[in-house]
Amino acid sequence: METFEAIQKRASLKARLSAREIEPWKIARVLEAARLAPSSRNRQPWRFVVVKGKDAVVRVVEGSFRDANQVAKEAPVVIIACANPADDETVNGQEIYLFDVALAVENLVLAATDLGLVTHLMRAVDEDKLKNLLGLPAEVRFVIATPLAYPIGRSYEEAAQERLGQRTRKDAKEVVYLNTWGSAF
Ligand SMILES: Cc1cc2nc3c(=O)[nH]c(=O)nc-3n(C[C@H](O)[C@H](O)[C@H](O)COP(=O)(O)O)c2cc1C
Repeated sequence: METFEAIQKRASLKARLSAREIEPWKIARVLEAARLAPSSRNRQPWRFVVVKGKDAVVRVVEGSFRDANQVAKEAPVVIIACANPADDETVNGQEIYLFDVALAVENLVLAATDLGLVTHLMRAVDEDKLKNLLGLPAEVRFVIATPLAYPIGRSYEEAAQERLGQRTRKDAKEVVYLNTWGSAF
């Protein structure tokens, strides 16, 4: 799949998680995509906890994910992205670690899409409970989680069809300007 095709086809598909096992090399591939992401001063603040296996996944999801995200326990793998904010810099009062982790996570979900695997970014998680369950050090912050799964159905395309059909995005003219703020591109 071309990069742009993966960008177009990626969708949040928590309603389409199959329990089918994922080959270890595919899990390794999506994590490698994350590891190769750029980061401010190459600080690489991201850390990933791979929660794998039915018992482990159910324990973490039931113990810390909000109701709307409980469906994540259908997946054979849940990846938790986290970071120690002190591992990254603060620029003009903005903590950069969230930006850097987000770049790695976007690489991860695009690589998953490329492999025909589904993801769904989830932030609605009880951080304290999650930290306890995973044994995260006090200074490490939870950033985002995603289930990683094969899609239910015959193909990724079929699984994503409905969601992609409902996709809404702001028009380019609302978000892209030419030379000065507000000028049409
Ligand atoms: C930072 C972030 C947090 C999110 N948290 C949740 C969440 O807790 N639960 C959920 O169902 N979706 C969550 N989403 C998914 C968004 O709702 C979804 O990306 C958005 O509606 C666009 O849909 P799409 O990903 O299918 O294109 C989150 C997405 C992002 C980027």
